[in-house]
Amino acid sequence: MNEIRPASAAADTATSRPNNLEAYWMPFTDNRYFKQHPRMVARGEGMSYFTPEGREVIDGTAGLWCCNAGHGRREITEAIQRQAAVLDYAPNFQLGHPIAFEAAARIAEITPEGLDRVFFTNSGSESGDTALKIALAYHRARGEAQRTRLVGRERGYHGVGFGGMSVGGIGGNRKQFGALLPYTDHLPSTHLPGQHAFTRGQPEHGAHLADVLENLVALHGADTIAAVMVEPVAGSTGVLVPPVGYLQRLRELCTKHGILLIFDEVITGFGRLGTNFGAERLGVIPDIMTMAKGLTNAAVPMGAVAASNDVYDTVVNSAPNGIELFHGYTYSGHPLAAAAALATLDLHRAEDLPGRARAIEPAWQEAAHSLRDAPNVTDIRDFGLIAAVELAARPGKPGERGQNVFRRCFDNGVLVRVTGDIIALSPPLIIEKAHVDRIFGTLTEAIRAEAG
Ligand SMILES: Cc1ncc(COP(=O)(O)O)c(C=O)c1O
Repeated sequence: MNEIRPASAAADTATSRPNNLEAYWMPFTDNRYFKQHPRMVARGEGMSYFTPEGREVIDGTAGLWCCNAGHGRREITEAIQRQAAVLDYAPNFQLGHPIAFEAAARIAEITPEGLDRVFFTNSGSESGDTALKIALAYHRARGEAQRTRLVGRERGYHGVGFGGMSVGGIGGNRKQFGALLPYTDHLPSTHLPGQHAFTRGQPEHGAHLADVLENLVALHGADTIAAVMVEPVAGSTGVLVPPVGYLQRLRELCTKHGILLIFDEVITGFGRLGTNFGAERLGVIPDIMTMAKGLTNAAVPMGAVAASNDVYDTVVNSAPNGIELFHGYTYSGHPLAAAAALATLDLHRAEDLPGRARAIEPAWQEAAHSLRDAPNVTDIRDFGLIAAVELAARPGKPGERGQNVFRRCFDNGVLVRVTGDIIALSPPLIIEKAHVDRIFGTLTEAIRAEAG
């Protein structure tokens, strides 16, 4: 079952196939099913992946919401190669190397005004945990060490570290792991299924859902709450678009009660919503912002946390001489990742990726909502270059229809992402109208084929 063919039989290593699938314990994967029915991509170029057999699969998900500039971008790979030849690695603890400083400065150029202090991590999960730790350190530095409560939101996803997992609102991601972080609370999800169904862009109704923060303040006391962390648009749990005014309300309440507002921009950053960050499109500036994915076009893992000058100054200036924040990773600001980030930011600017996303958003929205009458479609949501098509579950078999649609799309040359029975789409921002038509055409056929 696992003997596909010896790797040596493949002439081109870029398209070789493994001869043993057992050793790799795959993440967020049905390992038993996968290893019986492997599905591989071996090469990527522009809008497409290619299977080891050379079959093209259009990437409707930018990998995992991360290859915003498309695949195989020569500018990025060459920058990584050049950097590897000059400096492969150097520590960032009590030592520096120039390219990490350059990358931080370039990121600060496009973050919202005032969010100018950049801490490097290696993933979205590490960015989430870093942001929460910075928030706790900030309050302690201000003499409010009792502010330890962290508030997230139901159906929020902030990665898989203990902090992000605990503040995140996905039961399925938590139930295997015991009690997790204490003193966490969750706001309700922003999604009101009946009222929001088939809304284009932001729903009008639901800003009041932010007011639940007042209940938590009344229950615990404002001076116990350190931070609220939310995604501007929840991606992983099926594309939940914030109602008009919701984030503004959350901002007001956080400011009123001295609570830090953290935006998890791991998906919404770097052009996905037609602006540099979701904060810009949605008109709300947080105190801390996490990012990853599109930062390096995913060519080398890298995450970052942008903190306000106030947060940075408070933590740094209140510390006695010596290290101010006891946090960091061996690979924070890794030279290859920094090189990839700089090359990606060059492409981001030169090709105006946010502008491209904005320009094609109306066609994207139109195509997504054209599936409204397809069988079992119960909702369609979209914002920026993100869309979700929600399907009714097969009675007694939740997730089966979604999985089958995913497999049919892949077999027919389109990669979509599935969460339960929700199909999520987030293509590279270089997408053109012909790709949009192909993605939604293939998806429609797959949904029809799974009508029964
Ligand atoms: C909003 C958000 N935060 C955090 C993460 C975690 O990122 P990573 O998988 O790089 O740890 C993700 C991943 O999808 C995400 O969507």
